[in-house]
Amino acid sequence: MKKIVRWALIVIAAGFVVLQFFRSPKNSAPADPAVDFIAQYHPPADVENVLRVGCYDCHSNETRYPWYAEVQPVGWWLNEHIKNAKGEVNFSEWGSYRVRRKFKKLEEMMTQVQKGEMPLPSYQLLHGDAKLSAEQTRRFLEWVGAMRDTIKATTPADSLARPRPTS
Ligand code: HEC
Repeated sequence: MKKIVRWALIVIAAGFVVLQFFRSPKNSAPADPAVDFIAQYHPPADVENVLRVGCYDCHSNETRYPWYAEVQPVGWWLNEHIKNAKGEVNFSEWGSYRVRRKFKKLEEMMTQVQKGEMPLPSYQLLHGDAKLSAEQTRRFLEWVGAMRDTIKATTPADSLARPRPTS
């Protein structure tokens, strides 16, 4: 019996070593100021900080990787988050979104942060500085809300509503 356990451990360890050779490409392209969210909107420093520390690792092309991203399967797990997150909102490509999408995404950002669902709880657990204080949350919501109001005030209403089906 002992022998089986020892072999099982060896197989698991070897499997772990083999996993390390399968790396996903890194998500780290330089920011393009022509379309980057922060570069376009110039939020105040405290809101910019929330975005950079709390959101950009997943929702942009500029992830700051922690050391454990080098360990598989953790690296895959992180990249899966990044892929899904960028599918929802990619702040590095914000400027290429249509105004209707921006308007909707700003609303979702507020809802997610208000409910404490973003930054993802698992991320907050690993990044103490991404745990938003009540004041940070308030400032974030206030600023994002003001951005929405600006868009609303400067865009014709039919550009913000979903086109109605013509029937
Ligand atoms: C650890 C990675 C991670 C971080 C950090 C993160 N997100 Fe997300 N976010 C995701 C993933 C993954 C999704 C895709 C939906 C899901 O799985 O919940 C998502 C979805 C979203 C959505 C779309 C949700 C919807 O309504 O469908 C918004 C908006 C959003 N995030 C905003 C933010 C904001 C704002 C921050 C920073 C305060 C942030 N996220 C931080 C991973 C992250």
